[in-house]
Amino acid sequence: MKKIIKNGTIVTATDTYKADIEINDGVITQIGSGFYSQEAEVIDAEGCYVFPGGIDPHTHLDMPFGGTVTKDDYETGTRAAAFGGTTTIIDFCLTSKGVPLKDAVQTWHNKAKDKAVIDYGFHLQIVEMTESVLKELPVISKEEGITSFKVFMAYKNQFQADDETLFKTLITAKELGALVMVHAENGDVIDYLVKKALEEGNTEPIFHALTRPPEAEGEATGRAATLTGLADSQLYVVHVSCEDAAKRIAEARSKGIDIWGETCPQYLVLDQSYLEKPNFEGAKYVWSPPLREKWNQESLWNALKSGQLQTIGSDQCSFDFNGQKDLGKDDFSKIPNGGPLIEDRVSILYSEGVDKGRISLNQFVDLVSTKAAKLFGLYPKKGTIAVGADADIVLFDPNVERVLSAKTHHMAVDYNPFEGMKVKGEPVTVLSRGDYVIKDKEFVAEPGRGQYIKRANYNEALIKKEDAVPSK
Ligand code: URP
Ligand code: ZN
Ligand code: ZN
Ligand code: ZN
Repeated sequence: MKKIIKNGTIVTATDTYKADIEINDGVITQIGSGFYSQEAEVIDAEGCYVFPGGIDPHTHLDMPFGGTVTKDDYETGTRAAAFGGTTTIIDFCLTSKGVPLKDAVQTWHNKAKDKAVIDYGFHLQIVEMTESVLKELPVISKEEGITSFKVFMAYKNQFQADDETLFKTLITAKELGALVMVHAENGDVIDYLVKKALEEGNTEPIFHALTRPPEAEGEATGRAATLTGLADSQLYVVHVSCEDAAKRIAEARSKGIDIWGETCPQYLVLDQSYLEKPNFEGAKYVWSPPLREKWNQESLWNALKSGQLQTIGSDQCSFDFNGQKDLGKDDFSKIPNGGPLIEDRVSILYSEGVDKGRISLNQFVDLVSTKAAKLFGLYPKKGTIAVGADADIVLFDPNVERVLSAKTHHMAVDYNPFEGMKVKGEPVTVLSRGDYVIKDKEFVAEPGRGQYIKRANYNEALIKKEDAVPSK
């Protein structure tokens, strides 16, 4: 059925204006006014911002990790994402040495099928660059529309790949038109520091942060950037947590290296002191890279504002405090790494970013939606409000004041890292391809309605043009 969104203020990465939106068969068919018809359902967006659905380029749903499996799966995770104003996620498909890539991708399809309530794509992890991976990668990339490959430079003896693998991945990605993503921390140095801390009897959660210093992230970020320049390839650094890493990215960009950076809400509002909470509560804040000393936050905000970091991912990777995080009660290195962050990503960026005057409204849309669409082959079908785009649309009331809490969130976990935090603004209604997923703050969709997205190749021209000059 035809829908018309009336009386709202449309916000894109470049413009803010009053207009109505007509939706037909899941697609935006007109923007303007005067196209009212009897058979259309009218949605009144008076007092709301109307912006493109959030795109979360960094999630881990139903992922085995740290001796357990993330609490949120594709059903609870995508539902929580929708409540938070996100209509597309790109999740990380893990792989293992010696296992065909197609088997890994099939495993991930099975996790999502019949469960996802919003659209989703996959990034593909690369753990080795053998002859068989080199042969299979072009085929799977094309067939599955997977145009981003992830290399971990940390988690030694688990996910970590060596520099040879990273370098070969960069070269292959360049040939295939894909974007390489890195978790940039020096896993070997961290492994040494962790062992030493445990030998000295230092087992509490805070030692997770102290054994993963910012230098280990800065060094790996710089190394990955240098290798990208050498390969004349393209790189996206996930979850940048500190000034050191952000500076390495800015430095590489100034040399003309094709490198992009993502940070996450947690690094913008929480800090290392949270890991010192008593009664093992610090474990709630154990993820990698760790939370940093508070002064780093200003650097990250400045990098977002000046365009040196371009996206906000959630790094959703949730574990219950009771029953999962406590695997590391006597040894911080056994605390499963990750947090429940998918739901509050958009709201925190709006509240802490726009409402507090740190970024503009248009920058906010760019950061939580548009830039990820452009980098990951989704634009202009997703990531903007335009005729011909999917009707992935959020009606956001900027005047609501509310408190984030595990009592009211929709993720499956038993805690919220932002517990008690006041935020301004709330997604009221969320459409995915024209269907209501959230209607007046109620979930109204069916699990399994979300579609897998085959993504287009990395397109330098699409993003380079505007990024030669930092966005306003
Ligand atoms: O601690 C984290 N970030 N867990 C998820 C895996 C990763 O490194 O992104
Ligand atoms: Zn990571
Ligand atoms: Zn380039
Ligand atoms: Zn992650």
